[in-house]
Amino acid sequence: MATGLREAGYLPADATALVCFLAERLGKPVLVEGPAGVGKTELAKALARLLDRTLVRLQCYEGLDEAKALYEWNYRKQLLRIQAEDQGTGWDAVQDDIFGHEFLLERPLLAAISSVDPVVLLIDEIDKTDQEFEAMLLELLSDFQITIPELGRVEARTRPFVLLTSNNTRELTEALKRRCLYLWLDYPGTERELEIVHLHTPELPEQMARRLVEVVAMVRELDLRKPPSIAETIDWARALVLLGADDLTPEVFRSTMSILVKHRTDLALVAERVGVRLAGAGQPA
Ligand SMILES: Nc1ncnc2c1ncn2[C@@H]1O[C@H](COP(=O)(O)OP(=O)(O)OP(=O)(O)O)[C@@H](O)[C@H]1O
Ligand SMILES: [Mg+2]
Repeated sequence: MATGLREAGYLPADATALVCFLAERLGKPVLVEGPAGVGKTELAKALARLLDRTLVRLQCYEGLDEAKALYEWNYRKQLLRIQAEDQGTGWDAVQDDIFGHEFLLERPLLAAISSVDPVVLLIDEIDKTDQEFEAMLLELLSDFQITIPELGRVEARTRPFVLLTSNNTRELTEALKRRCLYLWLDYPGTERELEIVHLHTPELPEQMARRLVEVVAMVRELDLRKPPSIAETIDWARALVLLGADDLTPEVFRSTMSILVKHRTDLALVAERVGVRLAGAGQPA
């Protein structure tokens, strides 16, 4: 699994590779939690590439309901169908017709279980929805079937590989956690982050990349409102390549650190602590 994920462009920690391997074998969903920008969404994309499956993505938000997540009737088409009907036709005949598959709009969850080829289903940022939605999801994840009142039971044609992500803005229910394997993604260690930087910005010289990753680790040690994530490390590396910077001098750091740190109070703290250390490191011994 680790090699496969690497080939798919994702450098996993050992735990990540293990949990994905087990999830695939056991046929269980994975709940991925961790701070923003540590590669939760990217993991699902990489799994889809690795397993050569389509990625079906459900982006969660407050107020997301079944009509947007599961299915919806195509009212407009139903209306047209009714209007096209001859006056004499009985209501029963029309009703049978307009509540058929042809008038159903599949949303991501239904699409994922009714797909002929198994897919990877990413339910992104599940913590943004409410508990009611979670309960509906539980039913789907345990039975792999849904009941549409007018149509009856729809059973899964194939089992998707399910990945749920959460930024931990609210505690998820025990019931949901129990059905999933759990993976906590954290900021990577220096060596793995260095590899990730290489992967995304091969143009950045090795020496620079190492310095950059070390500085990011230094910044993360400070007590910030929002520590820089892998996404910010990559952005910073790209910016330095674009600017053609060949050394991480205090000046370069000061002029580009807003890519890394995005709160005014954090900026001040980082400028003071890290800027000074960089200047110190630049002096001959
Ligand atoms: N292990 C990794 N290997 C390769 N690239 C990675 C890895 N981890 C993160 N990245 C890169 O970091 C960036 C951010 O990752 P991603 O968007 O998946 O974060 P996230 O955890 O979903 O964040 P958010 O919670 O804000 O949605 C992406 O560009 C991704 O390619
Ligand atoms: Mg994400």
